[in-house]
Amino acid sequence: MAVLRSSHRRYSEYRAKLKERRRNKEADDGGSFHSSGPERKKPHKRSRSFFKLFVLFWGLLAEHRRMLVVALATLGVSTLLGLIPLYGTKIVFDSVLRENRLPGRLPYGMHLPFSNLFEISHNGPFDVAHDRRALLTFVAVAMVLLTAAAELFGLWSRWQATRMTKRVQVSVRKRVFDHAVRLPLHRVYELKSGGVASILREDAGGVADLIFSMLYNPWRAIVQLLGSLVVLAFVDWRLLLGSILLLPTVWLTHRTWIGRIRPIFRDIRNTRQGMDSHATEAFGGMRVVRSFSRQQAEAATFTTTGHLMARQEILAWWWMRGIDVAWSILIPVASALLLFFGGMRVLSDMERIRAGLITPAQALTVGDLVMFLAYLAALLGPIATLASSATALQNSLSGLDRVLDLLAEPLEMPNKPDAITVTRDAVAGAITIESLSFTYAGTVNPVLHEINLEAKPGEIVALVGPSGAGKTTLCNLIARFYDPTIGSIKLDGVDLRDITVESYRRLLGIVEQDTFLFDGTIAQNIAYGRRGATMQEVTRAAQLANADEFVAKLKDGYDTLIGERGVKLSGGQRQRLTIARAILADPRILILDEATSNLDTESERLIQGSLHMLMAGRTSFVIAHRLSTIAHADKIVVLENGHAVQQGRHEELMQTSGRYRDMVDLQTAPPAPPKRPTREQPEDAFAA
Ligand SMILES: Nc1ncnc2c1ncn2[C@@H]1O[C@H](COP(=O)(O)OP(=O)(O)OP(=O)(O)O)[C@@H](O)[C@H]1O
Ligand SMILES: [Mg+2]
Repeated sequence: MAVLRSSHRRYSEYRAKLKERRRNKEADDGGSFHSSGPERKKPHKRSRSFFKLFVLFWGLLAEHRRMLVVALATLGVSTLLGLIPLYGTKIVFDSVLRENRLPGRLPYGMHLPFSNLFEISHNGPFDVAHDRRALLTFVAVAMVLLTAAAELFGLWSRWQATRMTKRVQVSVRKRVFDHAVRLPLHRVYELKSGGVASILREDAGGVADLIFSMLYNPWRAIVQLLGSLVVLAFVDWRLLLGSILLLPTVWLTHRTWIGRIRPIFRDIRNTRQGMDSHATEAFGGMRVVRSFSRQQAEAATFTTTGHLMARQEILAWWWMRGIDVAWSILIPVASALLLFFGGMRVLSDMERIRAGLITPAQALTVGDLVMFLAYLAALLGPIATLASSATALQNSLSGLDRVLDLLAEPLEMPNKPDAITVTRDAVAGAITIESLSFTYAGTVNPVLHEINLEAKPGEIVALVGPSGAGKTTLCNLIARFYDPTIGSIKLDGVDLRDITVESYRRLLGIVEQDTFLFDGTIAQNIAYGRRGATMQEVTRAAQLANADEFVAKLKDGYDTLIGERGVKLSGGQRQRLTIARAILADPRILILDEATSNLDTESERLIQGSLHMLMAGRTSFVIAHRLSTIAHADKIVVLENGHAVQQGRHEELMQTSGRYRDMVDLQTAPPAPPKRPTREQPEDAFAA
């Protein structure tokens, strides 16, 4: 396929873009990916800094914070408990296994049972093998008990944190869903259904994992680090200093590597969103795909995007491996260095004791060194886990970034603070359109120009005009799917912008040009028009919409499941269901956009009757191509290229020669025989 760009090319382009983005970023914030300074407004979407993401994430946790603090405190206790047994190694090496026992150097104020054994040990002669065994047993039992206690506490806090993860997952998904359904329509169309699904499932779902990767695990590492440092400080400050030197290394790896991964993960998620929305669309439009035999092309598009994603993932993999390799080298090297320098000191201290320069209590012992190693392992372990989970963290953070982008998008028509709420009973239903012009977002040319129109309560206004004239657009504005660019629409003299959107829309009943039904039963679809409608009301609405008859013929009647998009019904049947849905809503303002266009003449006539009844007492806007169906309207507006060229009743418009009369004449006149292109004079290229 010529139009399909290979994934390799797309990937090269992607790498170039990535490099450029990095260069720009380095130019603006000195290369730091962690600048916590104020965010500059940028035209392009920029990854937020780690600090900012952290603060925003904390904000998302609002109602879970207290539980989280309890869980983290328990984790702290558990981690500290887990550190104590390591001290046992020193006791065993220095007070049990050594020829000349040393007094236990415990932190002040701590008393171990058996502490008399330490005393005895110093006095040499009463060195009883039995005591040593007792101490060894005590140390071993204490180690097991402490570890078990630490494990229990740890399990409890992990359970709490996991439960919280699930709760946060649900609440973040809910927020994203709530926000996404309130986005302006043009944004919803841009996101596409598959794209929204992708953000909801992958990104919003992954946000909750941040509880572990950003709070739980780092907290454990910090407690372990501080606890170990305190213990090590008692042993030997010089070795301690050496281990502290490791910390900048952690920071450096983070700065150079990890920060670069997040943008890549973000892009991978973007690519996945594209794939998801493409797949959803391809399957949604499967009939078109098949009827033009484009299955293979669709599969190819899907596959190349898949390849691109694979390439991006491999790129991220390399960055991740870099960190892993660095750490898997660092830990053994650090241990070896410690062993070497510590061993050297133990040896030199032994010589100094023999020379009488220091007392045995001042010397670094084998026990100290072994304990030190144990603590170092305890220290480096969590840091290494942190480092390797840092990539997972970056992945979740990139999801959070995208979720926050979505949540930051302005909602559809935010209600003004002093917006009023309207109710069905208090509203008369007069709609006044005043010098309204409208341009779709993202386009330049106005679709409607200077429209003025008044619909008194209960009047029927018909909108007619050629295809593309702006009839549906005008109805969309009346339904407040969009706000006018210039001018206003008023309900009983109040600008729609001063009314809360939800309360206004509750007054509406709409039958759209493109019928849409949900995946569910027929009864559920009709009942969508009104919450809590009884079965009787549903049946009544279906009868009025002339749908009862065909529903009764179905095996399961109103409980018949209609597939996604209602594919199991004919176009006319679907249209009748949407009419029933609008009838059930019992609206004050009714909008019928080609509501009967899919019906045969007889069904249309039948429904016209019920629609007439329905329109009585409601302000109605009716769009129809078949002009005979709107001849009785109180007002007919002829739209052409976005201008209202004529307005009046049928009789009035028929008396003056104009667009409307031309249209009526055209529809009532017998069709002219089509001109056939002759062989000698092909009319257009296709005939050739
Ligand atoms: N979402 C949109 N974004 C940008 N332009 C749009 C959008 N929807 C419609 N338009 C443009 O607005 C113009 C009017 O469209 P509209 O759907 O209102 O026509 P219509 O009178 O209902 O036509 P039809 O009789 O075929 O349904 C068209 O030129 C169309 O291209
Ligand atoms: Mg239309």
